[in-house]
Amino acid sequence: MKPKLGQIIASAGILLLSIGLIVFFLRAFRSYQDYRFEISLTPTPVVRRSSVNIVPLTTLHPDHTPEPTPLLLKNGSSGDEVRKIQVKLKELGYMSGEVDGQFGNATKNAVIWFQNQHGLDADGIVGKVTYDLLFSNTAKKAVATPSPSPVPSPSPASSAADEDFLVLVNKKIPLPDNYTPVNLVPMDKALKASFIQLKYKDTYANASAVSALEKMLQAAFDEGIKEWQISSAYRSISDQKKLFNRKKQDFIKQGFSSKKADSATLQTVAMPGTSEHHTGLAFDITVPGKFFKDTKQSKWIAKHCHEYGFVLRYQEGKEKITGYIAEPWHIRYVGLPHSVIMHEKDWTLEQYLESMPSPKNKS
Ligand code: DAL
Ligand code: ZN
Repeated sequence: MKPKLGQIIASAGILLLSIGLIVFFLRAFRSYQDYRFEISLTPTPVVRRSSVNIVPLTTLHPDHTPEPTPLLLKNGSSGDEVRKIQVKLKELGYMSGEVDGQFGNATKNAVIWFQNQHGLDADGIVGKVTYDLLFSNTAKKAVATPSPSPVPSPSPASSAADEDFLVLVNKKIPLPDNYTPVNLVPMDKALKASFIQLKYKDTYANASAVSALEKMLQAAFDEGIKEWQISSAYRSISDQKKLFNRKKQDFIKQGFSSKKADSATLQTVAMPGTSEHHTGLAFDITVPGKFFKDTKQSKWIAKHCHEYGFVLRYQEGKEKITGYIAEPWHIRYVGLPHSVIMHEKDWTLEQYLESMPSPKNKS
């Protein structure tokens, strides 16, 4: 008996629906695997250690809040005044882009750099103070290669003067054995913004970095991007050892030899003693239950983190220099204006330090 046309259409419909469902579940499974992979890199709860410097929280939120700069020219402004400041910023070496009269990101970055170099509040907005200084005789030329910060003190210290936000640590440059992270604070107490979740309660990080992180995430929140989680910040060497061994064991379970498991682990997890997390200046930012790479949070961080003193430390295309595959969730505090310069020039921290006249980290 010949099937009727209606039956054929119904069968074809069911077949298409089934294929659609299979594709949907396969994709969902892949995303879940990506997500598991990502969280496997940052799962370490951080335990309070008595040997590290914890500073009092009173230093985090000083009473004195600087007066806001009066608004004049900012991102989105356009016209002759913008053209005028662009010409000046170019003349002084802060801007390399076109003079087009449009105040976009390139102009904002140049303004932040200028403001930093002149000790102004680096908000990227040209108010009266910035404007007057820009056109005064005291406006200084851009220094693309600021002098290196002092090498961190090997003795335990907690004063801001001992902080080295440009400290370089990578596969080739481990931290010295006696390295002590400076000004660590408990993040649950330091953060005021309740929308920033901590994956683990006992999470510590450098006070200046936490303060910049909060300012940055508050700006994102104000733009409507509200879900933020910190999966990891400061990790002691023993935390890193546990993380490393856990990852290595995963590879061994998959049949890798110990040596092969070591090298597979080293693609994504630093050898204890060589992780930026030991400095308290690195954060792993995630969104609960999501693969960070494809989130709006990830895009926002990639676009704006340099404005707050952070860099994306491990980026696509830079693997040979950094030694790691891209980690869009790992941000590192280097401070302003360094982050802006590195962003403008598309430099890793290695490249930035290399560009300095007498790099501290060269052997
Ligand atoms: N995942 C980075 C490389 C670390 O373990 O420090
Ligand atoms: Zn990290």
